[in-house]
Amino acid sequence: MVNNNLSKLVKDKQIIAIICNQFGDTGKGKFVDYFASHWADVIARGTGGNNAGHTIVVNGKEKIFHLLPSGITQDSKGKINILGNGMAIDIKTLCEELEELEKENLTYNNLMISNQAHVIMPWHISQDRAKNMSQKNGGIGSTGRGIGPCYADKIARRGIKISNLFDKEILEYKINKIKQFYPEQNIDFRQILSELSPHIKKIKPFVKNTILEIHKLKEQGKKICIEGAQGLFLSVEHGTYPYVTSSDPSISGTASGVGLNPQNIDLTLGIIKFPFMTRVGAGPFPTELGGKKSEDYCAEGLEHDENYEIKTYIGDENKKEKIVELMNSSDEFTQGVGIRLAAGEYGATTKRPRRTGWTDAVLARYARKINGPHFILTKVDSLAHAKKFGICYKYKTNGDIVEYESDLKTLNQITPEIKYYEGYSDISNIRDFNDLPLGLKQAIQDFEDFTSGKVEIISVGADREETIVR
Ligand code: IMP
Repeated sequence: MVNNNLSKLVKDKQIIAIICNQFGDTGKGKFVDYFASHWADVIARGTGGNNAGHTIVVNGKEKIFHLLPSGITQDSKGKINILGNGMAIDIKTLCEELEELEKENLTYNNLMISNQAHVIMPWHISQDRAKNMSQKNGGIGSTGRGIGPCYADKIARRGIKISNLFDKEILEYKINKIKQFYPEQNIDFRQILSELSPHIKKIKPFVKNTILEIHKLKEQGKKICIEGAQGLFLSVEHGTYPYVTSSDPSISGTASGVGLNPQNIDLTLGIIKFPFMTRVGAGPFPTELGGKKSEDYCAEGLEHDENYEIKTYIGDENKKEKIVELMNSSDEFTQGVGIRLAAGEYGATTKRPRRTGWTDAVLARYARKINGPHFILTKVDSLAHAKKFGICYKYKTNGDIVEYESDLKTLNQITPEIKYYEGYSDISNIRDFNDLPLGLKQAIQDFEDFTSGKVEIISVGADREETIVR
């Protein structure tokens, strides 16, 4: 049944993209892994850097990778993993991830790193941490990995590309020139070179013109899975600017980031967490449960991490029962905490608590325009035993219904209208769409009608095969 439906979905497709239609953290990793193991020969990432994070189970142990594509564990089967030209790469972190693979006796022989990707340098990280990271001090709550400053240097035409690392003269020239833009930092070429040298040496065999390589692979008929990063509403083009990341994780930005024409992509699957969603860091989130109280609480970051919430909201009681009780609370903030605990919504990269709210179909309808009509719904099982759940189909401002606008003033004025549905119990064993509970099926139908989209896949558990392909 599952495989039949999957075969129908991928029939005649050569390039499939898995991207996020919300604020990131929607479970792209699971589906890239799913397509990497069932279908693809090549897995390519095109945007962002180690601000992303995905958990992969290796030899029974959970490992969090930030840069390596989610298909890396399939290297020994000859699958090719590519870090594309649109990425911002911290080569120290990349080498640490390669060492993690080595420890687990996993290979990475078929890895390719774009010579055109930009390098996150030490001064990018220092600046990001000083200026953008802390929400309490007015930052947007960036991940502090140097992403924004690295892309800023790229756009200002002074960035350092991976290829520059292999030419000492050019590197010295560029680093000395860049100093003037970071007067508060003590940038010393010799010191930087000595720190980076072992990493430069380690990555060298894998550095290629990946744009030419991916086109060669395409011409050879290889099946390619493109792995998105972050999400559409964190896009510098489409997101809730300035509360965004510094790349464009839309399908166009992602295709460009691996050197492909968006028209080459046969199927774009946009992920929607359903029927709840999350956001991490500052910025508008119309359907947030508990509104400003939740935003401020989550802005405290690690002070309100998972351990804190377990201690404070669950204590010695039966964990599962207590979480269900929290999700069914009449207080929205408490419901949001319950959903966070039920779904394990704490940052893979930063461990921060993620803000939680109902799935916003108005955002999804906009995402459909940019990324196309095919959706994957994820984390649907997480809300099991909640008595009811909601979906937002309308924004109101002074009585007028509005569409999503990236403009902050508009976003801050809107009130979401929520339609509620009957909740459901455990669905993790269901593999046929028709067997899903009525309230959930109705919500999916309404969601498809509203967005003019088509739900192709539903994830009912973290495991690769806990998946319904329609
Ligand atoms: P930056 O990408 O580190 O500059 O962070 C900018 C904003 O994007 C912050 O609100 C981050 O929390 C958010 N962000 C960046 N990467 C991710 C991600 O992979 N998942 C979710 N949010 C992210």
